[in-house]
Amino acid sequence: MHLFCTPSILKCLAFLSLFNVALAASATDWLSRSIYQVLTDRFALTDDAGTPCDTAPQLYCNGTFKGIVNHLEYIQAMGFDAIWISPVVTNLEGNSAGEGDAYHGYWTQDITTINKHFGTSDDLKALSKALHSRGMYLMLDVVINHFASFGLPNDTTISAYGTFNAPDLFHPQCFISDYNNQTNVEQCWLGDTTVALADLNTESQTVIDGWNKWITGMVSEYSLDGLRIDTLKHVRKPFWPAFQQAAGVYAVGEVLINDTSYASDYSNFIDGVLDYPGYYALTQAFSSTSGNMSLLLETSHQTQSLYKNGAFSTAAFLENHDQPRFQSTVHDQSLVKNAMTWSFVTDAIPILYQGQEQGYGGGNVPANREALWLSAYVTSNTLHGHVTSLNSARKAAIAANSSYTSVPMVVSSPSESTILVSKLPMLAFMSNVGAFGSYNAVGGGYQPNEALVETLSCKTLNADGNGNINFASTDGLPMVCEFL
Ligand SMILES: *[C@@H]1O[C@H](CO)[C@@H](O)[C@H](O)[C@H]1NC(C)=O
Ligand SMILES: *[C@@H]1O[C@H](CO)[C@@H](O)[C@H](O)[C@H]1NC(C)=O
Ligand SMILES: *[C@@H]1O[C@H](CO)[C@@H](O)[C@H](O)[C@H]1NC(C)=O
Ligand SMILES: *[C@@H]1O[C@H](CO)[C@@H](O)[C@H](O)[C@H]1NC(C)=O
Ligand SMILES: *[C@@H]1O[C@H](CO)[C@@H](O)[C@H](O)[C@H]1NC(C)=O
Ligand SMILES: *[C@@H]1O[C@H](CO)[C@@H](O)[C@H](O)[C@H]1NC(C)=O
Repeated sequence: MHLFCTPSILKCLAFLSLFNVALAASATDWLSRSIYQVLTDRFALTDDAGTPCDTAPQLYCNGTFKGIVNHLEYIQAMGFDAIWISPVVTNLEGNSAGEGDAYHGYWTQDITTINKHFGTSDDLKALSKALHSRGMYLMLDVVINHFASFGLPNDTTISAYGTFNAPDLFHPQCFISDYNNQTNVEQCWLGDTTVALADLNTESQTVIDGWNKWITGMVSEYSLDGLRIDTLKHVRKPFWPAFQQAAGVYAVGEVLINDTSYASDYSNFIDGVLDYPGYYALTQAFSSTSGNMSLLLETSHQTQSLYKNGAFSTAAFLENHDQPRFQSTVHDQSLVKNAMTWSFVTDAIPILYQGQEQGYGGGNVPANREALWLSAYVTSNTLHGHVTSLNSARKAAIAANSSYTSVPMVVSSPSESTILVSKLPMLAFMSNVGAFGSYNAVGGGYQPNEALVETLSCKTLNADGNGNINFASTDGLPMVCEFL
């Protein structure tokens, strides 16, 4: 099966997944998917005018749902079969004088209407339909923890909050002051006096019923396939199982923390957790030629043992809209390619943040929210090809082995600069020796003398008489091996 080094396999697999879309998508359905994170305001303009977008003032750059529809081919041709889009509800209007405006979608004001900057309710339905007709899934970002206010909210502000328009539906005002006190994290407020994030009283039955009814309606009205839940750790854990059930689709939550024990407990309350501890270990391991590979190894072993369903309970990423781009600090393209490989070869659901494939290098928020249209969506650059190969290799491995998304990977670190993920028929070697380094690695589990292909270079090779491969790299590049 040499197909995965050609684009044809992608079309073929995209066609196959058409049959998955009609029913509500479960965690199992999502495990074989690959997610492209779209920042709606920064992905595509309706008219493709290529208007400049300065990230610094934090204003709307006017990307739309229609723009996304027009560029789905760009996403699907890289092998992604799901997108995660920004929150869609109506946000605070106007400028906060300091933190810009609500182009990111996280400043909820009214959950009963759609943010007009992104389009209409019908435009969102059209996006959902366009995705489904390509066999792709739609994941919606939802903010449940809080509503937003310019300055501290007063009765007038709260009366504009639609569904939750009474002061007693919110926790009394206090800003979070102690991250070691979970009650403080859950009941005090995020934000500050410029933009306050009024914390919903998620102990209140009115609030619980309001959210559960809302999410059932949203999933049904827009035929959503999954949810990304913002600030999951700021809402008490027992709130989530009923919310997840009301949604009826896969949900993955954001637990921003560098602590696997803390993050993993959430997998007992919701389908999936964004793998932040893994992100910290991953970025550290490939940060330089002296990055710490044993930290990545140790963290991934903890992930496998602590989450409810091991690493299958997680979604893995190297970049997102809240963290500096990897290339804001790392320029060695060998390190970059190795780091990008990780999320696509582990048990986790891979997520790629828009612009990584274009080599974007913005630092902290807001610099990391560059408009994708400024790249002209070119498909000729090296990282775009790398992402396409990674998706293709993953899909081929899933297609070749029915236990790929249920039997846990085996991760080992053959040397201090290399890490090996074994998920037969895929073996993935990554290293942080960098572009001027070289490494050797041995992996096994194949048939004696079996014909294999290294999917990133499309070079063929053979297993030895013991079913092992002896791999030597002279440029530090990763290697992802499979059957020919
Ligand atoms: C976005 O649209 C608003 C309202 O039409 C306009 O004022 C603004 O200049 C646009 N932004 C960009 C970056 O074109
Ligand atoms: C309530 O706060 C808003 C700003 O969010 C302000 O414009 C308004 O004047 C305030 N109303 C009262 C009654 O204080
Ligand atoms: C934890 O935070 C809550 C909410 O702010 C507060 O009431 C409580 O006293 C704090 N507990 C401790 C031990 O500091
Ligand atoms: C994350 O946690 C690990 C383990 O405690 C630690 O070694 C590492 O330095 C932390 N990383 C960051 C970025 O704080
Ligand atoms: C690398 O990470 C491991 C595992 O967390 C830790 O024990 C070790 O001290 C770290 N090494 C360096 C050089 O920081
Ligand atoms: C399929 O995966 C299982 C579990 O990892 C493994 O034991 C088996 O060898 C794999 N089969 C092939 C043909 O790679």
